[in-house]
Amino acid sequence: MNIVVMGQGAMGLLWYHHLSQAQKFQTKKTQVQNKGTGDIYPLSKLSLLASNQQNLTQNYYQFTALNNQTYNGIVNYAQPEQLQTADTVFLCLKSYQISDAITQIAEQLKTSCTIILAHNGIGTLEKLPQAIINKHAIYALLTTHGCLRNAPLNITHTGSGVSSLGLISGNKCGEQDNVRDEQITSILHNALPLVKFETNIAIKQWLKLAINCVINPITALNNIDNGLVNNTQFTWQIEALLIEIIAVAKTQGIALVKEELQKSVQEVAQATEKNCSSMRCDVLANRQTEIDYINGYIHRLGIKHNIATPENTKVWQQVKGLGSKL
Ligand code: PAF
Repeated sequence: MNIVVMGQGAMGLLWYHHLSQAQKFQTKKTQVQNKGTGDIYPLSKLSLLASNQQNLTQNYYQFTALNNQTYNGIVNYAQPEQLQTADTVFLCLKSYQISDAITQIAEQLKTSCTIILAHNGIGTLEKLPQAIINKHAIYALLTTHGCLRNAPLNITHTGSGVSSLGLISGNKCGEQDNVRDEQITSILHNALPLVKFETNIAIKQWLKLAINCVINPITALNNIDNGLVNNTQFTWQIEALLIEIIAVAKTQGIALVKEELQKSVQEVAQATEKNCSSMRCDVLANRQTEIDYINGYIHRLGIKHNIATPENTKVWQQVKGLGSKL
């Protein structure tokens, strides 16, 4: 198994670190084994493809674990031969970077190479060239792990979480595909548990999207920590956003329940009360936000299906406006 992790941000390095530890310490006991055939899947090659790696002189990273222990690890930067033989390319990038990033490497990848997308929001698949969609099985990975980038190639794991992996595009027809799903899930789970394979990842993507559609713009527009989203001043706005999301989700065959979404938003805001949401951090750091793939996605689907989404459209425009003032 040859894995190339793409992206040297917090999530990219979190996975790179755990996969490299799993590779280093794999023994007969911890190697991933197919329960049916008994085949062993050793993680034999791991590399990191950084966005600007030709300019990077540093070849080590620093990782601070949940128990505050610090590790220095070597970065094995991906070279063309790693991409050409990759079994999985794991993109830990922002949603707006996905299409360009895959297009740049696509010609080098073999057909059997699977692609994993780990980002906030939905809508990146639609932006990919059809040839790439036809060629590769594509998975989405959703995670609740918290991780902070302190400096370039220096991250802290701030909160333990769980991850879900599911196929969003590509064949799902035979025994071979089941083996492939099991193999990828096992390798990721072995590195950073828990990772669960979901046959219906779409519903999980929509649940996460709904949470991001509420917490991200409200925290970014009001410059507040996540916990303050539970303040009653936002109750009406949260309800309006969720009602529109539920109507749009229905057009995709996804049934969401308002009360359940309200509860999830409340719980996530509470569990991450002192955190700065990714969108607020992006705005504060003058970076592009993922708003086009969060409330912007609801806005676009609303237009396509003739459903009014005034509140999502409003916050989408307001967050875009924040960017243009910077
Ligand atoms: O984007 C984020 O920051 C996170 O996905 C979430 C759930 C809003 C918590 O901070």
